[in-house]
Amino acid sequence: MISHYPNKEAALLPILHLAQKEQGFISASTEKQVAKILEISPAKVHEVVTFYTMYNRKPVGKYHIQVCANLSCSLLGAGSLIEYLGGKLGIQPGETTEDDRFTLTLVQCLGACEQAPCFMINFDYYGDLDETKIDEILDKLE
Ligand code: FES
Repeated sequence: MISHYPNKEAALLPILHLAQKEQGFISASTEKQVAKILEISPAKVHEVVTFYTMYNRKPVGKYHIQVCANLSCSLLGAGSLIEYLGGKLGIQPGETTEDDRFTLTLVQCLGACEQAPCFMINFDYYGDLDETKIDEILDKLE
């Protein structure tokens, strides 16, 4: 992978994606390993991992629900939908269900404001959400 980039550091994001794909999240030890491989400081890797919400810093469930809590979504009811989702799943934002099926995370703008309120489940977007639509989406995952 490194050979596809002009220098080792330029491969940082794709290598972190690969590590997350294999391990499900980026641990502190993974950050150190990546830093060593790319010959950059562990602090640099940590900065990137903590800046981008796409990198999980702890294990997540099979279905990672990332709910947008930014302005457009909030104005169109994201707050009540987050409460509804939390109640339905029995978890608070930042938590994973006991069966490791669902993790609920609040994120900033998903870049789909025209479909507010919205969330992502793993890599799929869902917009114009309401409680009925959330029920339908989650039922299809069962
Ligand atoms: S504010 Fe929610 S997608 Fe932009």
